[in-house]
Amino acid sequence: MPSIHIMYASTSGHTEYVVDTLIKFLNERAPQITVERQHVELAKPEDLLHGDLVILGSGTWNFGGVEGQLNEYMHRYLFEQSQGIDLTGKQLAFISLGDDRYYYTTRCTEKFMRFLKESHAKMALIPLIVVNEPYGQEERVMKWAEKLISAMQNNKAPTHAF
Ligand SMILES: Cc1cc2nc3c(=O)[nH]c(=O)nc-3n(C[C@H](O)[C@H](O)[C@H](O)COP(=O)(O)O)c2cc1C
Repeated sequence: MPSIHIMYASTSGHTEYVVDTLIKFLNERAPQITVERQHVELAKPEDLLHGDLVILGSGTWNFGGVEGQLNEYMHRYLFEQSQGIDLTGKQLAFISLGDDRYYYTTRCTEKFMRFLKESHAKMALIPLIVVNEPYGQEERVMKWAEKLISAMQNNKAPTHAF
């Protein structure tokens, strides 16, 4: 059974709403895929090894007083707790949120890219970027989910070879 492990941080509930929408769609459209979800606050580095594909989700925040950063919990998880982890062969996908009232709109995506590079993981598909409140943007989430399902079907390579 193919499986997806989703880890996310969500301060005002926007990322959580996107994750909920995604899971609902995947359960309906691709019930053969097992989907697990986890608040990143509760995650351990080894959780990055779960599933055939890991999805990381975060809004863009002003962590450390600087705009354009990951949610603090996601930042600490990826760059402190999981610092130095080797994810060679692992498939990752990203969900980034932000608001166009901020100059560095959805720039947390760049931080995800930094983690991808440093951990030597592979990007399974282009990130899902949601600008402004996600309510009413469900169609975008579902289109991305379709691409995700295709990416999983097209990639039969084992991802647990660590
Ligand atoms: C204090 C603060 C700082 C923020 N900084 C940014 C930013 O730098 N860039 C951006 O695109 N959005 C920024 N946002 C908007 C959030 O990323 C956006 O509301 C997002 O949907 C929140 O997702 P969450 O509720 O899942 O954490 C900021 C919001 C707040 C309240």
